[in-house]
Amino acid sequence: MPETDAATGPGARHLLQDYLERLCSELRGLSAGEVATYIPELGRADPEGFGIALAMVDGTLAAAGDAAEEVTIQSVSKPFMYGAALEALGREAVMARVGVEPTGERFNAILLDEENNRPFNPMVNAGAIAVSALLSDGSPAEDELRMQGLFSDLAGRPLEIDLTVFGSEKETGHRNRAIAWLMLNSGMIEGDPDAVLDLYFKQCSVLADCRDLAVMAATLANGGANPLTGRQVYSAPVAQDILSVMATCGMYDYAGQWIFDVGLPAKSGVSGMLCAVVPGQFGLAVWSPRLDAVGNSVRGIEACRRIAADFGLHAFAPHLDPGAVIRREYSSAEVASCRERPQADCALLEREGAALRVIELQGPLYFASAEKAVRRAGALAERGGTLVLDFHHAGSIDRAAAALLGQLPAALAGRGCQLCVTGLGPRHESSGLARQLEEAPAGHVTRPAGIAEAIEAHEEALIARAQPPREARLARLSGAALFAGAAPADLAALERMAVRLSFAPGERIIARGDTARAVFVLAAGQVDISAVAPDGTARRVSAVGPGQSFGEMALLEDAPRASHADAAGAAECYAFPAAALRELLAARPALAAAVYANLSRSLAARLRQANRQIIALD
Ligand code: DON
Repeated sequence: MPETDAATGPGARHLLQDYLERLCSELRGLSAGEVATYIPELGRADPEGFGIALAMVDGTLAAAGDAAEEVTIQSVSKPFMYGAALEALGREAVMARVGVEPTGERFNAILLDEENNRPFNPMVNAGAIAVSALLSDGSPAEDELRMQGLFSDLAGRPLEIDLTVFGSEKETGHRNRAIAWLMLNSGMIEGDPDAVLDLYFKQCSVLADCRDLAVMAATLANGGANPLTGRQVYSAPVAQDILSVMATCGMYDYAGQWIFDVGLPAKSGVSGMLCAVVPGQFGLAVWSPRLDAVGNSVRGIEACRRIAADFGLHAFAPHLDPGAVIRREYSSAEVASCRERPQADCALLEREGAALRVIELQGPLYFASAEKAVRRAGALAERGGTLVLDFHHAGSIDRAAAALLGQLPAALAGRGCQLCVTGLGPRHESSGLARQLEEAPAGHVTRPAGIAEAIEAHEEALIARAQPPREARLARLSGAALFAGAAPADLAALERMAVRLSFAPGERIIARGDTARAVFVLAAGQVDISAVAPDGTARRVSAVGPGQSFGEMALLEDAPRASHADAAGAAECYAFPAAALRELLAARPALAAAVYANLSRSLAARLRQANRQIIALD
């Protein structure tokens, strides 16, 4: 469903709307061209009618002028019916009946590809009639309902057929009748030509306004999914096939000039409707019934040309900068996990931590940007160790990028480098990359919950390799970092003051905003310290293990708690009432000196680590 935000929510004015309205008023002065009258009913159109609409692939709509005027879509129906045939019958069966070659001729030329015994393409009348034949299954009423259902699905609302225009064309459509019987004669179509023509005339008589047509075009831009309803009307490959044929044949004998000037897949119609598609971005629709000599809307062409020029939308203009794909890169020596560690461990990690490197990707991933990422990953893999490739800030991952990135696990394993992938989310699901990673040989790639978890696991492995395993439980207060260097008598006084507390997994020990009443030393388990963002979400900023303290700010200031402290698993703590502890320190200067020195060292280590992170993450 359409995403609306504060800028474009209900009632908010979208600046795109202003642009379209300015463009509409600028081009109203264009009065060249004539309204089509060869289908008499079409001649009743207001020659001054002029509407523009644009539909983004997230469903956002902007429209101007007579965008709500309903008119018959005429040949604009052709690419959509072509897509229905591809969906129903598959490429091979459709290609056997209609080609994809432009003719350079008028839309109603009686010109057939005798060599392949088929019309040249589905955008000219002959090809469109052949497509209608493919979609006629012998029951005209059902054919009509299916066709009407297709256009309603594409517009995201029920569309009707203008039976007056249908009757007017049926009565005068002799040229199309000749084409249909000629194709029947040579076996290019089968079935009752009159029934086929009725379906064709009815699809041309579907009533839609510019907003409907913009949504239909945006459905093609959106890989076949209607951006308003989310309905997958076409598969992505079929949507691509439709756009390809629109780009080469959609504007008939103006197709070459159109691609040269505008550079977008498009389709015109003699009612003055014209739609264009910017794949992956939006659909555009214009209606103005004054037509040029080749049957295209004069204002429609100019409006598309201006929009393409004003926003640099030409399909062959370079739109992307692969150079920006690497958001940042750092090692775990520069950016440690948030786990509080003894000084000796911190020193070890500063020495050895560079063995894990992180590459954070950003922006859309397509062949060129993925190639740059893969190339950098390969260069880092030469050092062995562990490489974390993070997709948290990556945008879409197209098939080419997924194909390249999917080769990384094997490539890095071959160089003795362990790949970790983090940050892949639901928006990346359609790329198939997660599935490729799951199918990688065991051990080639791991999927930690995030960068922090990957770094923490790496640190734990490094420490485990370098140090004898640590006691999982603090045996005596003398092992507590906060009380390092305290005299036995002072430790005894602390023992007497300490209150032993146990907490269940997930239990909150300190809540942000609480009055700071105690200082804690963790005896067993782990405690996670979380900061609270303005929107109320908590984010883990530190993790405390046995022997470490938390809540010690209570010694320095009488302020409400700044963070939450939660038992990450079952936890056991020594709690020291803050007021009593402050009194004890006041009465025991040697203990106070040791405690404040330890606290200062701990805060200095955190500050040094924070400074390293600021530099690394800048
Ligand atoms: O078949 C015809 O002539 C009309 N129903 C449609 C032709 C048309 O829209 C040509 N496109 N510019």
